[in-house]
Amino acid sequence: MKKAGVMGWPVSHSLSPALHQFWLREHGIDGSYESLAVPPDRLAAALRALASKGFAGCNLTIPHKEAALPLMELLDPVARRIGAVNTVAVGPDGALSGYNTDGYGFIENLRAEIPGWKADAGPVAVMGAGGAARAILDALIRAGAPEIRLANRHRARAEELAKAFGASIKVSDWQDRQRALAGAALLINATSLGMEQNPPLELDLADLPPGAAVCDIVYAPLETTLLKQAKARGLRAADGLGMLLHQARPAFKLWFGVLPDVTPELRRAVLAARQSR
Ligand SMILES: NC(=O)c1ccc[n+]([C@@H]2O[C@H](COP(=O)([O-])OP(=O)(O)OC[C@H]3O[C@@H](n4cnc5c(N)ncnc54)[C@H](OP(=O)(O)O)[C@@H]3O)[C@@H](O)[C@H]2O)c1
Repeated sequence: MKKAGVMGWPVSHSLSPALHQFWLREHGIDGSYESLAVPPDRLAAALRALASKGFAGCNLTIPHKEAALPLMELLDPVARRIGAVNTVAVGPDGALSGYNTDGYGFIENLRAEIPGWKADAGPVAVMGAGGAARAILDALIRAGAPEIRLANRHRARAEELAKAFGASIKVSDWQDRQRALAGAALLINATSLGMEQNPPLELDLADLPPGAAVCDIVYAPLETTLLKQAKARGLRAADGLGMLLHQARPAFKLWFGVLPDVTPELRRAVLAARQSR
């Protein structure tokens, strides 16, 4: 029996068990996926113990993604560039390999939800410069986005990302974020604004061209104020749950040997698990 899980602190909020358990059932795999509550000072020991406990690997969530980096024997180039690990695989010799699938999940979700989407269709406006934004910027640049307009509340964080990722990133002040929308092909909310308990991201989408798409990576609520505004304007929209589901696919493949699909049934199962909490 193959085992995997998610390490976090706290971890009870994670939707990863619901989605991996759905795929295990769907593919008839004799395996398990558990929630692993691991405090920060136990991360190294918990990762070391994976092999002896028979785990094929694990996901990492808050607050472990950055701290795990130096604990990996092998680091995938994407995880190295992003500076964070969200997926760990245990090798036959017990060596730990670290990956980051957030950027992959972001791009795959866009491709699924916005048919015909092309990275080089025009400028991309990104709000936010936290951990998720870092993975998204890396993926957008690799996909061929020619110009990324980046605004973050604390400008210095956006400047750091521009320095790390290069000249295609143009930083603007948070109070000037509205200007990033003119002529943009894609708008992304990569802040935590719009999440339950948080205020919405304030932007007037009238400045986006009619063919533009809007993507919100926040998934609680599923339909944020930003996505409602996008739909009201007739713009194409992608929600944050899709990114979460797609980032899990390569991890499942690493541990269980099957690349699973993101289907309406999976979305329903994960949403039902969230609502039952
Ligand atoms: N769909 C998915 O698969 C997925 C994956 C990862 C994360 N997420 C979601 O994405 C969001 C960001 O996650 P993260 O890991 O990047 O978090 P993070 O590293 O803590 O970054 C938070 C971001 O939100 C900004 N922010 C927070 N409060 C703000 C406010 N009041 N006004 C303006 N900006 C504000 C921060 O700006 P400052 O830098 O100025 O503080 C920063 O850019 C969360 O809602 C998370 O749940 C979704």
